[in-house]
Amino acid sequence: MKERSRWSSQTGFLLAAIGSAIGLGNIWRFSYMAYQNGGGAFLIPYFIALLTAGIPLMILEFGLGHRMLGSSALSYRRVDRRLEWFGWWMPLLVMYGIMLYYTVIIGWCLNYTLFSANLAWGKDPASFFLKDFLGVTGSAWDLQDIVVPIFVSTGVVWLITWFICYKEVNRGIERACKIFMPALFVLTLVLVFWGCSLEGAGKGLEFYLKPDWSKLKEVSVWTSAYGQIFFTLSIGFGIMIAYASYLPRKSNLVQNALITSVVNCLYSFIAGFAVFSVLGHRALVENVPMAEAAGEKGGAILAFVTYPQAISELPAFNHLFGLLFFLCLTIAGISSAISIIEALTCAIRDKFQVSRGKVVSILCGTGFLGSIVFMCHSGLIWLDIVDRFINHYGLVLAGFLECVFIGWILKARNLRKHVNSVSGWKLSRMWDYLIKFVSPAILGALYVMDVVDIIKHGYEGYETSWLILVGMNALILSFILAAVFTIYPWRRKPELIIHKPEEDKVLV
Ligand code: TRP
Repeated sequence: MKERSRWSSQTGFLLAAIGSAIGLGNIWRFSYMAYQNGGGAFLIPYFIALLTAGIPLMILEFGLGHRMLGSSALSYRRVDRRLEWFGWWMPLLVMYGIMLYYTVIIGWCLNYTLFSANLAWGKDPASFFLKDFLGVTGSAWDLQDIVVPIFVSTGVVWLITWFICYKEVNRGIERACKIFMPALFVLTLVLVFWGCSLEGAGKGLEFYLKPDWSKLKEVSVWTSAYGQIFFTLSIGFGIMIAYASYLPRKSNLVQNALITSVVNCLYSFIAGFAVFSVLGHRALVENVPMAEAAGEKGGAILAFVTYPQAISELPAFNHLFGLLFFLCLTIAGISSAISIIEALTCAIRDKFQVSRGKVVSILCGTGFLGSIVFMCHSGLIWLDIVDRFINHYGLVLAGFLECVFIGWILKARNLRKHVNSVSGWKLSRMWDYLIKFVSPAILGALYVMDVVDIIKHGYEGYETSWLILVGMNALILSFILAAVFTIYPWRRKPELIIHKPEEDKVLV
């Protein structure tokens, strides 16, 4: 195999990492989670989660990929040969658990970007979204047909992903993110200023940020904060390990981890202004209480029903506003989607020494086929269940195991030494404690509480046994695949895959 891929600049790496972190979740998940969990008061658990789990784990993933010079699979194999499966499981779980429906949602965003041209959702965006656009059926097994516009747009999303990942990282992902991320920041700021200049915006923002301190006593507020931090920073995905393995030896890992995490969280916070200012305007126009204008639900319903309604009611240029909003979602989504393809491509190439083109084509091809179930009429139901299951039971488990494996098997101290030997900013022993005790304890507790909760209360009225069955399938499938990849022999002994670290090269 040719020499290992490399980023061509520090900024390129940072933008790619931030691009992976900022995704659909930042725009529609964060602001809602904040308002449901105590408004401004939610920032406290969120910030604590960022400090105690988010940043330490981000440093862990950056450090591991950089130290072992490998994808998640190769890195964990180098930690201990019995851990290779885990390095496969992380990206596989995300690829076949999240990515398949994530690309379909980006496809919806593409469709809605076009719909903005004539505000196609009309007077009743809810029925437009559920009936006309998705044509949702009553039961999950009633798949009926594939919805053609979604099939086409999701196909386009996979094609773009393929096109970007097909090239080496410095010419593909790095270049794409250098265009995508500044564009995304500018577009978001335009939306924020525009939104805040509307009449009624103040009410909306007050609703978003008014602290409700009593909420801090609820356990679920804390679990939501930790869950959100995990998903939003893309940790436990194996992505940051792969990305860091493309860095040169002298890289400021601690600083990069801090910048990536903080920029991502700030972006969420600011994007919330664009969301709630417009909803505040809607409350004013319709003369309804803010809670009603904001709807009861975040997630897909917010982006495709509540928000379009508010867009229709803007005083001027609503088409343009809609276009900008859905374009932002599309860009944010694609820059995340490419990162998981890269994480898995990196792992497969490390082990089997095959060409990038072949791996990326196979991954995107099978991914597109796998997405088909979510493009059918009952796709929304499948999406909802898989989403809940993987986010709550897959990712948190991955984060927990990651802390245990690195904290106790590789030993946090050893990794800290490596990170400190290359970084300008140094870690103190506090980091070891966070990785060995604090983060796994919190994640473990979170996991247990979540499992108890679903057994006790079920999820949104789905039959629990059915839910667990479908969700478990996604988990089990990723375990089986990880086992297959692990058992397959290495093309070249992993000890021999040495990539000359370019000692002298320092990226600027
Ligand atoms: N962090 C992303 C978000 O907030 C999620 C994400 C990152 C993701 N990489 C991904 C989802 C790859 C699917 C596949 O939305």
